[in-house]
Amino acid sequence: MKTNSIKNICCIGAGFVGGPTMSVIAANCPALRVEVVDINVERINSWNSNDFSKLPVFEPGLDSLIKKCRGKNLFFSNKVEESIANADIIFISVNTPTKTKGIGAGFASDLKWIESSARQIAKFAKNHTVVVEKSTLPVKTAQTIKTILNSSKQKNIEKDSKTFTVVSNPEFLAEGTAINDLQNPDRVLIGGEDSYSINLISDIYRNWVDSEKIITTNLWSSELSKLVANAFLAQRISSINSISALCENTGANINEVAEAIGTDSRIGKKFLRSGPGFGGSCFKKDILNLVYLSRHYGLNEVADYWEQVVKINLWQQRRISSLIIRNLFGNLSHKKIAILGFSFKANTNDTRESPSINISKDLLQEGAILDFYDPKVNENQIFKELNEIIHDENVLVSRTALQAANGADAIVVLTDWDEFRSLDWDNMFKVMRKPAWVFDTRICLDKKFLKEIGFKVWSLGS
Ligand code: NAD
Ligand code: UGA
Repeated sequence: MKTNSIKNICCIGAGFVGGPTMSVIAANCPALRVEVVDINVERINSWNSNDFSKLPVFEPGLDSLIKKCRGKNLFFSNKVEESIANADIIFISVNTPTKTKGIGAGFASDLKWIESSARQIAKFAKNHTVVVEKSTLPVKTAQTIKTILNSSKQKNIEKDSKTFTVVSNPEFLAEGTAINDLQNPDRVLIGGEDSYSINLISDIYRNWVDSEKIITTNLWSSELSKLVANAFLAQRISSINSISALCENTGANINEVAEAIGTDSRIGKKFLRSGPGFGGSCFKKDILNLVYLSRHYGLNEVADYWEQVVKINLWQQRRISSLIIRNLFGNLSHKKIAILGFSFKANTNDTRESPSINISKDLLQEGAILDFYDPKVNENQIFKELNEIIHDENVLVSRTALQAANGADAIVVLTDWDEFRSLDWDNMFKVMRKPAWVFDTRICLDKKFLKEIGFKVWSLGS
């Protein structure tokens, strides 16, 4: 069956994956009608906003895709049941965070949103529906989804022709570059059990992706590969971050070391930027999921190996907080510190698991007054993330970096937004209390230039 005979795609979950992914599918497949549905009314209203700066997800290039397709073959709606009933293909793109309580708490994925999506599909789908796992899931989740879908069928007294197949099609986009990643993927992975469903999903991607880049596997390889890809990427970051500490103690420079090893084509240059540790909603949760699965199968050494990647990540953040405190004479009480950057990386407004959260909390615990500036993260989001220990008068949010620096003893750069490189550093120095410090945890500033202005500078890994 070819895509031109498919009419309706439904995507359950209008988040950081569902929104951008479906926008790219809609833009490349004008013959398809793509509907992205969510239970979150506010989120859907934002996706439908005429003010494109209010889209719930900030991604370079996303607004122009929405302008092009929304209302034509791309729709955002809260009518989940109706959309399921009309769909030939349903992508499940809901959140799968780490469980916070019960068996596996702190490691296993919480699959309650997956289960509720599967139950809704089981209830409202009609005829034959191909259900696609887009969310990142523990291996064997497809079995759970199939069981839910098929058990609903048995109860169907009308004996209609309701049938299902399940396909795994994990998403590899990175935030901040999502549109480019979706438009030019390294590969598209499709795992399934029947060639009809695998071809159906492959045909969608063939509208803009070369066939050689479409990898097909069995269901379990596909589910596991997504977890392993994230684990390998995160492992590289923990590896280079562990070496950054060694550089600081020996006179080596982490950028020079990264370049020296990265030119070996077997190692490769990418993902060797040392920083304050990886953030984002997925690396930590997906590794913890892998750890949980390994323990479940009695592979304790495998579990311990991968858990260390997460432990080093937290250690790097604590290490940075401690050295900021030490350099400010071990005393932060009533000292103002400007925090530049709150998102977990540049070019996104996502703050989930951002290293800024833990580092800021450590500094607040010491009595510091923090003044935040982030080009895309709003005040409410910062307050929400710091909620646990917030003392209102100690948390300020500024509209410019200069305002945040006013009267501060230190500036801590925690996200590598481009604009931080070209700030008016002369003026920033003038408005700060002396000695004025810059802690560059992203190695994105010109250390020599800042020192010439008069700053005391600590730059990670040198
Ligand atoms: P998200 O939290 O931004 O979005 C998930 C959305 O699903 C929410 O808006 C929520 O309201 C909605 N939802 C939950 N249950 C629902 C239901 N029963 N019916 C309708 N809507 C429902 O999450 P995200 O960042 O888009 O991630 C989604 C999945 O994709 C996760 O499994 C994640 O691991 C994976 N993933 C994320 C990224 C990323 O960059 N964020 C990249 C690759 C894969
Ligand atoms: C990551 C993966 O790169 C995607 O392939 C995957 O689809 C996604 O997770 C997911 O499953 O959610 P993302 O978290 O959006 O994407 O962003 P990355 O570019 O991978 O960055 C993650 C974190 O690592 C950021 O905090 C970033 O600053 C940090 N990082 C990245 C480094 O510290 N050094 C690097 O060299 C690269």
